[in-house]
Amino acid sequence: MLVRECPSSRVRESFLPFALPSIGEEEIAEVTDSLRSGWITTGPKVKRFEAEFAQYIGCPHAIAVNSCTAALHIALTALGIGPGDEVIVPTMTFCSTANVVVHLGAKPVLVDVAEDFHVHPEAILRAITPRTKAIIPVHYSGQAIDLDSLYDIARSHHLAVIEDAAHAVGAEYDHHKIGAAHHTEVLGLDSHMVCFSFYATKNLATGEGGMVATSGDELAERIRRLSLHGMSRDAWKRYTGSATWYYEVLEAGYKDNMTDIQAAMGIHQLKKLDRFIDTRARYAKLYSEAFADLPEVETPLVYPDRKHAWHLYVIRLALERLKIDRAQFIEELRVRNIGTSVHFIPVHLHPYYRERFGYQRGDLKHSENLYDRIVSLPLYPGMTEDNVHDVICAVRDVISANRR
Ligand SMILES: Cc1ncc(COP(=O)(O)O)c(C=O)c1O
Repeated sequence: MLVRECPSSRVRESFLPFALPSIGEEEIAEVTDSLRSGWITTGPKVKRFEAEFAQYIGCPHAIAVNSCTAALHIALTALGIGPGDEVIVPTMTFCSTANVVVHLGAKPVLVDVAEDFHVHPEAILRAITPRTKAIIPVHYSGQAIDLDSLYDIARSHHLAVIEDAAHAVGAEYDHHKIGAAHHTEVLGLDSHMVCFSFYATKNLATGEGGMVATSGDELAERIRRLSLHGMSRDAWKRYTGSATWYYEVLEAGYKDNMTDIQAAMGIHQLKKLDRFIDTRARYAKLYSEAFADLPEVETPLVYPDRKHAWHLYVIRLALERLKIDRAQFIEELRVRNIGTSVHFIPVHLHPYYRERFGYQRGDLKHSENLYDRIVSLPLYPGMTEDNVHDVICAVRDVISANRR
């Protein structure tokens, strides 16, 4: 693939957003159908989306909820995590991965990540105490973490695993989709759940939305119940002709159910997902080829034996080679009409986590070092190849103007 030339100091006329959902006429028609049908909360389309999603990832149970945050929260609740328990969470994640542990009165034990942004097995081993109950690994940016090493640790220390697959719908490890029953079989634990996000910018978008996948029949039933007030099974059917008005509350559950309006989008987004990922992968390759000759830009580390879902394309700046810092780099791109983001501010650096758990800068050095130099570039199927080229030229321009 030839790297195209960049005309000198060419700047886009309009702003290129960092992320946009790809919503087609199919989604619009299906949502309209839901609105016209009068069934606008949890109903037949949620059932269909769950069934099709479960089939896509290869898992017997998929329970739709209103966010990945809700998915993680009920997954932990289903395990009985509570006060006195510790849950290991990588610091390089969105705050909700750790917040849900706090919501249950348990302690999130934040650990460092390696250069590939994945939680390092050594870091997990160092963090385990007699109170540790579970690990929440994050498939950062859509690339699966090394599940074999993780499972070895989980098995030998009797820990549950809840995978945060917010970025990883469609990603594969060991030739099976993240969330597939295959991984639970290899894990050899029945307490294994995988949580997905369908937030507006995700690979599969329903505005807000999430899914919990599990192979455990009892876990699945408990999660379904927890997602809707703890009501007895199929309570949502009580307004249809075939059901009665009667229900029982079996535990104090939550209001985390997905609506048919969200599922209407999800059904069609799922059909397009593999195509979306192919486009993301193609654009990621264009970026990596175009930056290959720039020592100032480190491109993402890719494991060729794992299918990457390419939710994010994150570059690491070699700051020692630049006259500007990451914030200035982002500003220079903004001036050139390119939107960017940063994934993530390490959780342990947020004021709440510093004050409540006593974390400070210096505690998780590798994640902090990554944080200081990461930039997420625009990557979504709605971009054109010309848009990708605009980003490439803007990055090259900022680098050449600010080399040390
Ligand atoms: C790694 C990670 N986990 C969890 C979440 C929470 O997802 P949601 O917004 O669907 O609650 C996000 C959201 O961006 C995320 O990036």
